[in-house]
Amino acid sequence: MSHFARSTSMLLLVLPLALAAGDSRPTRAASAPPPSKLVLIGTTDLRGETSPCGCHTPRGGFARISSVVDSVRRSGAAMVYLDAGGAFPDLSTRMDLADFMYSALRDMAPGAVGVAPRDLQLGLSAIRRFAADSRLPMTCANLLDRATRAPLFPPTRIVELPGLKVGVFALLGERFELGAARDSVVVIDAESAAHVAVTSLREQGSQVIVLLSQLGRVGGEDLATAVPGIDAVFLGHDVPVLEHGRRVGGSLVSYAGERGQQIGMLQLSLDGAGRVGDGTCDVISLGPDVRQHAAMLARVKQFEDAYNERMRHEQRLAQAADEADTDPIDHFVGGAVCARCHTAEAAQWITTAHSLAWETLVREKKDATPDCIPCHVVGFRKAGGFQSATSTPHLVNVQCENCHGMGTTHGENWVARSGPTEGTCRTCHSAERDPEFDFATRLPLVTHGNTSGESIRNVKARRERYRSGASR
Ligand code: HEC
Ligand code: HEC
Ligand code: HEC
Ligand code: HEC
Repeated sequence: MSHFARSTSMLLLVLPLALAAGDSRPTRAASAPPPSKLVLIGTTDLRGETSPCGCHTPRGGFARISSVVDSVRRSGAAMVYLDAGGAFPDLSTRMDLADFMYSALRDMAPGAVGVAPRDLQLGLSAIRRFAADSRLPMTCANLLDRATRAPLFPPTRIVELPGLKVGVFALLGERFELGAARDSVVVIDAESAAHVAVTSLREQGSQVIVLLSQLGRVGGEDLATAVPGIDAVFLGHDVPVLEHGRRVGGSLVSYAGERGQQIGMLQLSLDGAGRVGDGTCDVISLGPDVRQHAAMLARVKQFEDAYNERMRHEQRLAQAADEADTDPIDHFVGGAVCARCHTAEAAQWITTAHSLAWETLVREKKDATPDCIPCHVVGFRKAGGFQSATSTPHLVNVQCENCHGMGTTHGENWVARSGPTEGTCRTCHSAERDPEFDFATRLPLVTHGNTSGESIRNVKARRERYRSGASR
């Protein structure tokens, strides 16, 4: 059973307690007794990842985050979902994606959302606009507008549950590069901002106080040690995954990693006044065994498919502009040319998964998405390489020249003559896309002597497994 399934069943065990302690009738927050348990779930640094990332074992994606948030919420537990910031993509040209990240986050009804340096890189007006459009409950305690010295977003947020006020504040590192927003904002000292925020949240009656940190691992831990009164911390900004979190000073700290591949889950027990007693922290890994939320999956697909179509259109425009250019002397020729002389290798290549690489992108509707194409074609964006499926149809799939080098240099100083090395494979079977890649065991699956079709059977069997996992 998956880790998530275990965590949920643990959660279900504590549920009757939570319900017994709370009041099932709708009552005003102030009059109800506090629940005996509070569940905090948090993500951070989604970095523009809408879909599962990784090709060998796809992890994460909004549809999985959403299904976890949703099932905890529907369990009836006293819960708050939080995001520590960093949802915006790496590429400053993807305004559409930044906008989508915020609106998809909004669908999961977070109690508060922090701000990361990367969210400021697109400029102040962009984050302001997307925050306003999405109506996300943004917060940051140490980020000011340089012109007015007023906080850019509310310095604290209070999430009211029956019988409980959960106070949330967020902090940004002072020394990080802020890109386009550099000259329009000021980041003030995190520690003094934290003291002010904690005091203000307590004065407003918060029984539980949570920090959304964009201070990095060391910065976040130092702050939790230096500032008393913080019950829980979600650590963001280049923080490694730590499966069971840690206690730092008086705080329980979640290290749930980035890109939405994991979710941090803190379960805090509360006393009669709603003050935090002990607690546990777990990281839920969002692997293929975690169900995908159907409505969110549809929303993500619609956004990504539209992007793929827009890129296809841009390819056509670029192609028309390129038509006048002369072809480079050296270029990729495509496997059909090699096959004229190397018939055995060509016949064997068809029996490997490399011959399916393009079909895969077409099936996923990612055949014009620039993030996906490079490793599934020959010579992407290189002179004489793949341009689009219509202008260079002979260069789709992983072919001879991906491993042996450009065909027009055949017979001269052909570097690939001695056969490709492990490094050649790893340009595509990279740490991000295929972290489980093992050269010694995978090479025999595609080597020219092997015509068994095993590599194709492997990918098809895996695809079936994930599909059945996703429909659960
Ligand atoms: C006109 C026929 C012809 C074509 C087309 C051709 N090759 Fe060759 N290739 C040869 C011959 C003949 C040799 C062996 C003689 C030599 O070492 O130069 C060779 C050698 C090789 C070798 C090196 C074998 C070794 O043991 O060193 C590789 C790899 C190779 N070709 C791959 C390719 C690829 C990839 C293409 C397409 C881009 C291709 N060839 C196109 C005829 C061809
Ligand atoms: C240009 C990028 C690229 C290079 C270089 C490359 N691969 Fe692949 N490989 C892929 C892609 C993409 C797939 C998935 C094809 C599909 O099913 O859509 C794949 C699939 C495979 C598979 C089948 C899936 C599996 O995990 O069993 C094996 C085995 C494999 N590659 C081994 C290798 C080896 C060994 C090398 C180096 C000698 C290599 N590849 C070089 C891109 C590449
Ligand atoms: C850095 C190179 C690289 C990039 C970029 C890349 N892939 Fe892949 N992809 C691979 C490799 C390598 C494999 C084979 C992994 C394996 O099977 O072991 C693969 C396999 C796959 C598979 C599984 C094969 C199958 O037949 O079902 C899918 C699906 C896939 N990629 C989709 C995508 C999508 C969608 C994107 C863009 C979001 C993408 N890839 C970007 C290298 C890449
Ligand atoms: C995934 C990487 C990869 C791809 C794709 C690939 N080769 Fe190879 N090729 C190798 C490796 C590795 C060797 C070294 C010997 C071996 O493992 O078979 C090799 C060896 C060769 C040789 C030397 C003789 C031999 O068979 O050992 C020739 C010729 C050759 N390849 C041609 C081709 C042609 C033609 C294609 C396309 C139809 C192709 N290769 C596609 C990896 C690849």
